[in-house]
Amino acid sequence: MQAKSIDGKSIAAQVRARVRLRADRFYERTGRRVGLAVILVGEDPASRIYVRNKIAACEEAGIRSASYRLDADTPADKIVELIETLNADSGIDGILVQLPLPRGIDEKKVLEHVAPHKDVDGFHAVNAGNLLLGNACLAACTPQGCIELIRSTGVPIEGKNAVVVGRSNIVGKPMAMLLLQNNATVTIAHSKTTDLKSLTLRADILVAAVGKKEFITADMIKPGAVVIDVGMNREDGKLFGDVQFSGAQAVAGHITPVPGGVGPMTIAMLLQNTVTAAERTEHA
Ligand code: GUN
Repeated sequence: MQAKSIDGKSIAAQVRARVRLRADRFYERTGRRVGLAVILVGEDPASRIYVRNKIAACEEAGIRSASYRLDADTPADKIVELIETLNADSGIDGILVQLPLPRGIDEKKVLEHVAPHKDVDGFHAVNAGNLLLGNACLAACTPQGCIELIRSTGVPIEGKNAVVVGRSNIVGKPMAMLLLQNNATVTIAHSKTTDLKSLTLRADILVAAVGKKEFITADMIKPGAVVIDVGMNREDGKLFGDVQFSGAQAVAGHITPVPGGVGPMTIAMLLQNTVTAAERTEHA
């Protein structure tokens, strides 16, 4: 069996085209462009690339971006001050603080100042809590993107065994909540899980979000499974997923490549959340 490759690039392009239509309609109704503020603190090279890509994607989607670059030694108070100003700015619908923040800055403390209705990353406790409760919220982008990718396969999520390997606040936990909302039976595994293989072998849907290069090998995959690889492990300038792709491809039914799978979806869902945030304030 040769797994079908899930084309994140083309699915993300479809999402972005829908966002563009909504952003243009918003402009026609309100006379202003949907606005996203992007805050980058410090010089982390990967973060700089991500931020550049997010700003370019905004432009293409008809979203105005406002970019704020702060020195790595900026005190947390100053970052919070900027966030509070953006919270009060009616031209800004979404606020994104690129992570990781430089060492010594308490990320939790900074992020809790982002107004929940502008928290397009879905990282605020109010959004995470509402996701848990099944209420309307802004959900984390990468897990939302993974759900879109799973849907694109045509394999129904309902009733399936889904195993999420990884329990981060950004991916693992919200991913599990979204799968549960879609009526999967969900298991969250992590670095302390014993006999991981016995769990993953039962997974009709397997989401790998551990951050370890090629951690999931072919012998851990149920034949025909949908395998979603969230890993972005850089080594010698090359990008590796959390799944050993060539081996997994021979066992899985559908699989995301790295790059070109989950990666493009994260930005697409960020744009979608930003337009959603704008529409919700319009109707508030
Ligand atoms: N750093 C890595 N992934 C993300 C993300 O999805 N959002 C933000 N703000 N920072 C990140």
